Amino acid sequence: MKRTEIITLFKESAKQLVGQDICIKGWVRTKRGNKNVAFIAVNDGSIIHSIQVVADVERFEEEVLRNITTGACIGVCGKLVESMGKGQSVEIVADSIEIYGTANAETYPLQKKGHSLEFLREIAHLRGRTNTFGAVFRLRHAMAFAIHKYFNDRGFFYWHSPLITASDAEGAGEMFRVTTLDMDNLPKTAEGRIDYSEDFFGGETSLTVSGQLEGELGAMALGKIYTFGPTFRAENSNTPRHLSEFWMIEPEMAFYELEDTMDLAEDFIKYLVSYALENCKDDIEFLNNMYDTSLLERLRFVADNKFIRLRYEEAIKILLEAKQKFEFPVAFGVDLQSEHERYLVEQHFKCPVILIDYPKEIKAFYMKQNEDGKTVRAMDVLFPTIGEIIGGSQREEDIDKLMARMQEVGIDPADMDWYLDTRRFGSAPHSGFGLGFERLLLFVTGMSNIRDVIPFPRFPKNAAF
Ligand code: 4AD
Ligand code: MG
Repeated sequence: MKRTEIITLFKESAKQLVGQDICIKGWVRTKRGNKNVAFIAVNDGSIIHSIQVVADVERFEEEVLRNITTGACIGVCGKLVESMGKGQSVEIVADSIEIYGTANAETYPLQKKGHSLEFLREIAHLRGRTNTFGAVFRLRHAMAFAIHKYFNDRGFFYWHSPLITASDAEGAGEMFRVTTLDMDNLPKTAEGRIDYSEDFFGGETSLTVSGQLEGELGAMALGKIYTFGPTFRAENSNTPRHLSEFWMIEPEMAFYELEDTMDLAEDFIKYLVSYALENCKDDIEFLNNMYDTSLLERLRFVADNKFIRLRYEEAIKILLEAKQKFEFPVAFGVDLQSEHERYLVEQHFKCPVILIDYPKEIKAFYMKQNEDGKTVRAMDVLFPTIGEIIGGSQREEDIDKLMARMQEVGIDPADMDWYLDTRRFGSAPHSGFGLGFERLLLFVTGMSNIRDVIPFPRFPKNAAF
């Protein structure tokens, strides 16, 4: 008989199936009961809820029942009936049960309820089978889908920037090298340096830290593009907000100035949060009840309220006047730390904040310089509990100013001739931003560690699974 996915049994329309024979397949979450009857909760990942299977002990061989343990994979056929029990409206009275794969109760690690998130991180290859991670990863899917939908509906084109690159887009020198050279026998130049001309690509290459520079080329051709792919940063940041491999969404738009870009960023995040509230109710409610009882309220607040917009200089004033002591001292020119960002958002404004016009020294070379000669048209979107969720800017379209800035920060314009061609031929005002996908997921799921919103996290000293 054709398999019915368990999600079908939790829809309104499931009532029409009552009295019919159906088959489900999935993994056993729990089995309880007595010598007459067994109650088996089966989950197939399609929804957070498990379906209850009722098995009359007399009708099944002892060996079958013995093998139905937490973690085992089974198929059940039987009649769907209205449930007398609490917590479910329908259940299955089993006619036949097939065991696909047993799970030894002694060695299957997901036995007890309520494992810590730290423990589950060590068994990341199995944690997707818990309610918590099922909810998180279904939300991850829903947000990825909503991102494509948002941009597609608004005439943006999905643009694939390369993952292997020869340029450091952020100029921070935090790149992972890509090479096929023999580490034990490196080719050398006459001066005794490593000879990268012998390497696979004939020069030094790394994994990308951002798709932006190639994204700008896309915007100069197709008008409005977005990238959505993995990015890699070899920064030694062991924090709950940093990953070495994370996914980033980078829209880039010709003819957008900073204000247009702020409007887009705000509308985009509100759309995603509203999408999650509308389409992932069960998962969000579960996370709200289990981990963070202010999650729903926080999501609704962000969806419904206008973000504060403020210049960096004004933010510094507020921080200098704050009663709170900060670990990192504040002065005009400092790069804001997460504690500062969170103070502004959580204590002072109690609302998401978009900070603009940062000093040029703490921002990347490509940002448009303001008339004051000191600041650039940068914008960071700051969120409660997270700090920076989006970083973006208007780009410097004037080739002379851009080249001067590159030289100031030690980038040889000759190395980026292809990028400078956007300014050489038909240069246009343009802007864009990058949203950290996992930071968005931290916000939407209420999880507090970024390692818990990606299936297989990469961070310093860890590339397991
Ligand atoms: O502020 P960032 O470094 O900006 C850029 O890469 C620009 N090229 C974006 C653009 O204008 N197109 O990174 C953008 C966002 C951050 O706001 C943060 O959400 C996320 O990427 N991010 C990280 N997320 C997880 N782990 C890390 N190590 C991250 N570094 C940045
Ligand atoms: Mg940033």
